[in-house]
Amino acid sequence: MRPARLVQMAFGIRFDDAMWGCDDVSLATLATEVGTPTYVYSATDIEERYHRLDAALGAYPHAIHYALKANSTLAVVRLLRQAGSLADANSGGEVEVALRAGFIPDQIVLTGVGKTEQELDRAIRLGVRTINAESAGEVDRIEALAVAQGARARVAVRINPDVDARSHPHISTGLKATKFGVALDEARELCRRIAGSATLDLAGLHVHVGSQIGTLGPVRRAVGAAVALATALRAEGMAVEEVDVGGGLGIDYGDAPVPTLEEYATALLEIVRPSSLRLVVEPGRSIVGPAGALLTRVVDVKPRGPDGWCVVADAGMTDLMRPALYGAYHRIVPLTRRQTARVHCDIVGPVCETSDTLGTAREMPRPEPGDLLAVLDVGAYGSAMASNYNRRPMPAEVLVRCAGWELARRRQTVDDMLACES
Ligand SMILES: Cc1ncc(COP(=O)(O)O)c(C=O)c1O
Repeated sequence: MRPARLVQMAFGIRFDDAMWGCDDVSLATLATEVGTPTYVYSATDIEERYHRLDAALGAYPHAIHYALKANSTLAVVRLLRQAGSLADANSGGEVEVALRAGFIPDQIVLTGVGKTEQELDRAIRLGVRTINAESAGEVDRIEALAVAQGARARVAVRINPDVDARSHPHISTGLKATKFGVALDEARELCRRIAGSATLDLAGLHVHVGSQIGTLGPVRRAVGAAVALATALRAEGMAVEEVDVGGGLGIDYGDAPVPTLEEYATALLEIVRPSSLRLVVEPGRSIVGPAGALLTRVVDVKPRGPDGWCVVADAGMTDLMRPALYGAYHRIVPLTRRQTARVHCDIVGPVCETSDTLGTAREMPRPEPGDLLAVLDVGAYGSAMASNYNRRPMPAEVLVRCAGWELARRRQTVDDMLACES
């Protein structure tokens, strides 16, 4: 249930009393105390989003497995466990993070297009709740490993419904030309094979057609395909328990509105309810995305073209890869206030790649070196995608609650970076 007190509180990354804050903590103060680049998350905002989705799915039998791939920083994962969420891991590493965050194996589903034998073996040994299988070969490997261990494994089959998520092509995963899942006919055969196995238990079907989905049409089509197949399998006498509809709901980055968590839940329930299948969801971005900001300090400013400026920040593609990887748009706001005229600014990072931008053609008073900026809506696929390219240490991460904050991850040092090298 959603705690009533959250309704009255102002929380999240917000502009209030003429300053940008996370809950009641000034972002500029945090940048000064922790340094830059630093990720900042609102714990209450994350909890609130989780509780909103849970409440919107209501009394219908459902399970929310937070997708760790969006943000697997331990403090964030632990927070969601404490809020009541279950876990979706996309790799052996994410399984281990989920365990360290306090999840028990039965609360973890394992997804992923290329699970190694080692990852599968560990997952079966642990007894994770479900392994979402991506191919006939993977089902064979799971069965062989389970037989060798004298264990059982609960398996769902990831279907590829050939649905265009109409998101960025790099994160649209439901078209048949992509590497994900199996076609519907093959899925039917595979389910028969699992149902007939002495070692495997058929959980149901899994589908995930993409991320940052902005309209519900593709979700309806994909989930509809999964429910129709599950219903047909049940008619054959198979005990199909659930449909796992993956994640994918987009967030509003300030460039295009998206359906709300409530609208998303309503659409899912409309399609799944008549089947009485248990509903499993794996949201990532829609839970953590808007709850995070990346604090960065301006290092250099130089003229660019007749009336523009190139603003070089101390955060770049190594800290936030989405603009370079997908041309993604993130709002960027100055934390240092200036009353000068607004000018065109390209906000770029320090990495030796032209793609290393945080945002181009932004209108703002021209920042000066030393000024602070905040990049908004970076709670998902921000720190989780950070790298050490150019030997840049990973940024610090801070979790804020109301007027207090804790260091969720200290800034990486050069020694940390080199710890694995001889
Ligand atoms: C299988 C699977 N489940 C869940 C998610 C989470 O998606 P999102 O963060 O868009 O909600 C992803 C991300 O692409 C995924 O691949």
